[in-house]
Amino acid sequence: LPDLKPHRRSALCDRLGIELPIIQAPMAGVQGSALAVAVSNAGGLGSLPCALLMPDAIRGDISAITAHTSQPYNVNFFCHTAPVADAGREAWRPIIISSATTVDEARWLEAHGVDVIVAQGLEAGGHRGHFLSDDLTLQAGTFALLPQILRAVRVPVVAAGGIADAAGVAAAMALGADGVQIGTSYLLCPEATTSAVHRAALKSESARHTAVTNVLTGRPARGIVNRLIASVGPMSATVPPFPLAAAAVGPLRAKAEGQGNGDYSSLWSGQNASGCREVPAADLTRQLAERL
Ligand SMILES: Cc1cc2nc3c(=O)[nH]c(=O)nc-3n(C[C@H](O)[C@H](O)[C@H](O)COP(=O)(O)O)c2cc1C
Repeated sequence: LPDLKPHRRSALCDRLGIELPIIQAPMAGVQGSALAVAVSNAGGLGSLPCALLMPDAIRGDISAITAHTSQPYNVNFFCHTAPVADAGREAWRPIIISSATTVDEARWLEAHGVDVIVAQGLEAGGHRGHFLSDDLTLQAGTFALLPQILRAVRVPVVAAGGIADAAGVAAAMALGADGVQIGTSYLLCPEATTSAVHRAALKSESARHTAVTNVLTGRPARGIVNRLIASVGPMSATVPPFPLAAAAVGPLRAKAEGQGNGDYSSLWSGQNASGCREVPAADLTRQLAERL
């Protein structure tokens, strides 16, 4: 495939201090420091999701990462309100990477000083990153969204959603992406903490049927369709607001999972689970980079 923008690709690697333009997507609830360490040590950018962690746990995981790699890593948060200036954080000099699901969101992020934008297509697994509008009809697939965001902003743009193998990585780069962010494909790696019911679903035929649903947490997220989604979703106007819906379904989920059943679990997955492999995350990262 032609390398359309070699300068932009290396600029992202230089900016982040990484060898490969591959970001392991932060995935709250299914990973900790081990996956991040493995990908950072393999030359990509490993990520630590903090959405479900208290501050002490975040400090512990960051210590575990810095003890096992000297490479850069990504610390990820769900943001609901404008951040308050914090001298301690600014002394850290972080590079801010943030997801956009529409062209308007990408423009907003650039205007507010974000360094790198992740163009999150509708194929992506897990929660949608939309923040300017709740209208899901505004959201586009990765290869429709990516070129439009590339034309709209000047900061580096990373493609996310449905990218699951070396050909997909090369295709995103050929479209002009500065890098890729990949989540679903890492879910079966031994370093991920993906639950047994989640792993079983990803390995089954049912992984081909995903939906964007709000019934599991109160906020739209893509997961494998299970009994809960099929019976009260995928979208419900009466669901408790994010994140309260997760607690509401908690007892049912715990009882079912105890019986090896994922009927009420959050089986987050993108539309393309075909890249899931039970191989070390470093091997998967190198395979994904094979056509670069
Ligand atoms: C299990 C799972 C959990 C996720 N959790 C987060 C998260 O905590 N923070 C975040 O920014 N994105 C999260 N995402 C979304 C990813 O950042 C990314 O958009 C997505 O994984 C890319 O699409 P793919 O899954 O098709 O590779 C999650 C995705 C999955 C599959």
